Amino acid sequence: MSSEMLKNILEQPEIAQRCLDMDLSLLESLKNPDSFQLLACGSSYHAALVAQFWFEHLTGKLTMVFDAANMVDRQIRQEKNNLLILLSQSGTTADIFKAVESISPAQKSQTLGITNRSNTPLHKFCTQTIQTPAGEELAVAATKSFTSQLILLLKLGLSINSVKDSFIESLSEQISDTIESCKTSIIATNILSKNRLIILGDGINYPIALEGSLKMKETTYISSEGSSLGTFMHGPIAIIEPGFPVIAIVKKGFSKNAETLKKLERLKAYGAYLVGVSSETHDIFDQVLQVPETNDLLAPIINVIPLQLLAHEIAKQRGLDIDRPRNLTKSIDQ
Ligand code: AGP
Repeated sequence: MSSEMLKNILEQPEIAQRCLDMDLSLLESLKNPDSFQLLACGSSYHAALVAQFWFEHLTGKLTMVFDAANMVDRQIRQEKNNLLILLSQSGTTADIFKAVESISPAQKSQTLGITNRSNTPLHKFCTQTIQTPAGEELAVAATKSFTSQLILLLKLGLSINSVKDSFIESLSEQISDTIESCKTSIIATNILSKNRLIILGDGINYPIALEGSLKMKETTYISSEGSSLGTFMHGPIAIIEPGFPVIAIVKKGFSKNAETLKKLERLKAYGAYLVGVSSETHDIFDQVLQVPETNDLLAPIINVIPLQLLAHEIAKQRGLDIDRPRNLTKSIDQ
């Protein structure tokens, strides 16, 4: 029987097209901000981290990201002419509302909510709201709501800087191609009996390594850590032993990047079972989760798909309840 999670994953090409077709002209009423603050938890937090790269790259403006679940000893700074974006697929996550309790009325005056539901507490709090067109997401693990958040955030970054966005027109097709080209069954079988794995991604792919790790933990119960490749060399590499599964999300043209290759070679030398999320095949990889070659700005949206599919396949082969993992609820409202 097909799981809701798999259905959600397979719906993503169609939902991506809906996101691309969405009219975001309501955003014209937002004053052109001098800075951005994004606040979110879990997968939505990872989407915010990707948006940080996009906004800073596309607008050159300061972009701050807050993990609303970890605001102890921290406050959202008061910034002039700032856009505060609250991201939450459910629109009900209690940590977000706790985090914004202390912000001033001035800070509240320009607030954008992005959520996958209608009529939520997020709508009451925010001055503007956009609804992601993902439809109801029944599986606990966020997949289609996550990619919808990403696409709308990218559109927002592009529209703020009036950047021509024709390169995103083929996104839906690229997601389809990714689903088609990704063969997860053998890799899942090879990882099945392991209790730990590492997902590596540099730069804009770092939040995708975190998101892939979250998907892996919540659906397969494998203890998975996301890291940048560079950071992993500064100590964590000590955990690698023969057969240790490492998934490396690499940028297009990585094989011409001597630094990246050197780091991957070290992992191989210590015995890692190395799986690439890559548009190129390469001898360094034991296996590749093939993705189409894409624009660097679109890469995070494409690269998360194989990780969702792999997490799903491992959970399936482990015989787990994919849609309702233990100890979890769809949203944490208290
Ligand atoms: C995602 O797969 C998780 N279930 C979880 O981390 C979730 O993203 C987090 O609780 C935030 O939820 P929200 O987007 O509804 O606020």
